[in-house]
Amino acid sequence: QRHLISAADLSRDDAVLILDTAEEMARVADRPIKKLPTLRGRTVVNLFFEDSTRTRISFEAAEKRLSADVINFSAKGSSVSKGESLKDTAQTLEAMGVDAVVIRHSASGAPYRLANSGWIDAAVINAGDGTHQHPTQALLDAFTLRRRLVGRDAGLGQDLSGKRVTIVGDVLHSRVARSNVDLLHTLGAEVTLVAPPTLLPVGVESWPCEVSYDLDASLPKCDAVMMLRVQRERMNAAFFPTEREYSRRYGLDADRMARLPDHAVVMHPGPMVRGMEITAEVADSGRCTAVEQVANGVHIRMAVLYLLLGGKGSALTSPRPAEE
Ligand code: CP
Repeated sequence: QRHLISAADLSRDDAVLILDTAEEMARVADRPIKKLPTLRGRTVVNLFFEDSTRTRISFEAAEKRLSADVINFSAKGSSVSKGESLKDTAQTLEAMGVDAVVIRHSASGAPYRLANSGWIDAAVINAGDGTHQHPTQALLDAFTLRRRLVGRDAGLGQDLSGKRVTIVGDVLHSRVARSNVDLLHTLGAEVTLVAPPTLLPVGVESWPCEVSYDLDASLPKCDAVMMLRVQRERMNAAFFPTEREYSRRYGLDADRMARLPDHAVVMHPGPMVRGMEITAEVADSGRCTAVEQVANGVHIRMAVLYLLLGGKGSALTSPRPAEE
């Protein structure tokens, strides 16, 4: 496999290999010198047509830790504003000798098109496309869950069988929710979506998860609750829920958090809208893994780049970094 487009494309063994390789990468990050020579002489372009803080910066950190040459492209300030197409932009970058493209785009399917059109030869990694997929987010979330619920060493080689994860909020516009439902199901976890009926997509009944409208009933039964941001930028203004009505039914405050089992964690992919889907008290509590998820994102993105570009032959069977 040369590309990472969708969490749904990963088998259970692929996903566990990425999580285990990310643990090896985390050991590199614990060393005084955090770099590996794996991608020396290789060039990776970060092609961002949509805003990002965490994903863009953590991909760049991961690429630099693997000694790649890094080119950062932001559509803002580029010739995209003059009408240049995705194809021409990608071919322009490839002409400069690019081995991999990390792409974020507001159009669902843009990374798939780039990978399968024959426009370029580079490996393609999806860093979030529209409301469709964000596979490295799902992988870093699974990594965080495995560490917290199974253990850093005990988790090696393990999946998330039997773990219960509740995902709450704007599922309709969430590539994070879609990717997580796919990957968590592959890894054996049980997922429940909790959302207002207006923020659930058509066809959700066919997804491999349960659907509920009652957050208070779901919380005592879960090992992790994942809060989603209400994505106003993808909504018609007439359909914005008010902060007060939304947070009353679907927001996580300290009283609601107290309904969780003692071992359960609170996750958020970021960016958080404090006061809407999560209160500041919960976001800043020791149970919230939002900052830990960001740190884990670097390990996961190193692992994905390492497995796609660093090894010989099939990307997902390349040797582990410990062998270098
Ligand atoms: N979680 C996430 O994708 O955040 P950014 O939009 O800041 O990259």
